[in-house]
Amino acid sequence: MDKINYSVVSEFVLLGLSSSQELQYFFFVFFSALYIAIVLGNLLIIMAVTSDSSLHSPMYFLLGNLSFFDICQASFATPKMIADFLSEHKTISFSGCIAQIALIHLFTGGEMVLLVSMAYDRYVAICKPLHYMSIMNRSTCTALVIISWAVGLVHTLSQLSFTVTLVFCGPNEVDSFFCDLPRVAKLACLDSYNTEILIVVNSGILSLSTFSLLVTSYAIVLVTVWFKSSAAMAKAFSTLAAHIMVVVLFFGPCIFIYVWPFTTYPVDKILAIFYTVFTPILNPIIYTLRNRDMKVAMGKIAARYFRPPKISEMPLVARISLH
Ligand SMILES: *[C@@H]1O[C@H](CO)[C@@H](O)[C@H](O)[C@H]1NC(C)=O
Repeated sequence: MDKINYSVVSEFVLLGLSSSQELQYFFFVFFSALYIAIVLGNLLIIMAVTSDSSLHSPMYFLLGNLSFFDICQASFATPKMIADFLSEHKTISFSGCIAQIALIHLFTGGEMVLLVSMAYDRYVAICKPLHYMSIMNRSTCTALVIISWAVGLVHTLSQLSFTVTLVFCGPNEVDSFFCDLPRVAKLACLDSYNTEILIVVNSGILSLSTFSLLVTSYAIVLVTVWFKSSAAMAKAFSTLAAHIMVVVLFFGPCIFIYVWPFTTYPVDKILAIFYTVFTPILNPIIYTLRNRDMKVAMGKIAARYFRPPKISEMPLVARISLH
């Protein structure tokens, strides 16, 4: 029997979102604009949270960290996807593909846990308001952020340890715009059934358990305010509605793709756009436009950076030449 050459696949071909040429141009413009909005919107949140002392509270620290996750989440595959819209050969090297798999699991895993932390923060604020400051102190916040990254890291390392056992020897067309693990696992040529099971179980446990924690905490909060007053209920509900919308749009696609990955549907890659592009843009929109303190802080930043400079702030040379 011939020796099997395991190193045949040195790169993967990404089929992208669509094969239509006109659509590619449209997507290029659309996603470029969206990507710029994601980066600017989330950067603005991070700047507001770090520079404005009225936003130095646990909720906003977590929100700032969520924005950082969002920028990472939107940046590991989207710029390449955007560049690929204009290129004939949409290929990615083998190691690039593995890197994308590692990063998406790091960022989505971390973001899931961070969303749970944010829900916990709201739970403490609404259900234990008198102990809020002592429970959600600085070190709790830092711990929650570190735990988020740690869970993301453990999750991605375990996914990678399954992935390295896959053997690729021929087919290398990934029907998506980035290397999504279930799609890549489908290309493995030796029997990969057990590995696929492990991948599903790993992602499934993480997304289903964080999702049920979130739903439980929202339920507890809503039941608690229900018994307080209808005014409190209305206020809590408007805060939570934002959270719940993010959670549904983020977890829905993840659970759909990862919990039933054995049959891949054409709609999968559309759903993948949700967690790579749409959730990162949703967070700034939802948390900023609906939040007065945040709007005020952003207004200050805009005023600082986008108004014409006062003469006294100009460099000396410019001042002299003005006289
Ligand atoms: C992230 O959370 C930490 C810990 O609370 C905080 O010190 C930091 O400012 C946050 N980062 C951003 C960008 O908000």
